[in-house]
Amino acid sequence: MSRILLATRNAKKLEELSRILVPLLPEIVVLGLDDVAAYDEPAESEPTFEGNALLKSRAAVRATGLPALGDDSGLCVDALNGMPGVLSARWSGSDKDDAENNRLLLAQLRDVPDERRGAHFTCAVAFCLPTGEEQALSAEMPGTVIREQRGTGGFGYDVVFAPRGETRTAAELSIAEKDAISHRGKALRAVAPLVAAALGRGR
Ligand code: IMP
Repeated sequence: MSRILLATRNAKKLEELSRILVPLLPEIVVLGLDDVAAYDEPAESEPTFEGNALLKSRAAVRATGLPALGDDSGLCVDALNGMPGVLSARWSGSDKDDAENNRLLLAQLRDVPDERRGAHFTCAVAFCLPTGEEQALSAEMPGTVIREQRGTGGFGYDVVFAPRGETRTAAELSIAEKDAISHRGKALRAVAPLVAAALGRGR
């Protein structure tokens, strides 16, 4: 069977990526970074989601020789001119402190009225092959930042984000409901046929 490496260390993201991708690629073994020898993972230094996804995917291919998917994602808030954006994971300063990130974001938006609390999540996915072929694409989930934290599912900013048309936050949706509308679900459903076609060729 062909193999593909998911080049992410974020456990919650990896869980979402695998649960969406595995059923879409039944013929392909999906590996995580714990399944391969450790290598120097690049810092997310690019100004765009797609740029960072490509960095991660290229580094994974270079280190392992396996086809790899890299991803980068984040929350873009209209009233903050698109930030936190690529800085979403470390918005409060320390890396991946979801509780602090959410507290800071709600404080920053305290005086912003409901009609200007629009935001969207973006997920970029890059697919790179040892042959040098590369593809990158991205998808969005629009919605609003509410005024408090609600829900126990998901991760990151899900507790403060109500997807468009929902009164519930993303953290109050079932995993199937979130995957059906999420930036990550849409991006992976778009990349899966490209992966299947490219790896199918090599079998
Ligand atoms: P990175 O893609 O590892 O750079 O980090 C993405 C960061 O964006 C996460 O740590 C979260 O703070 C945020 N994020 C990305 N996708 C989601 C999501 O689906 N729900 C909530 N937060 C997310």
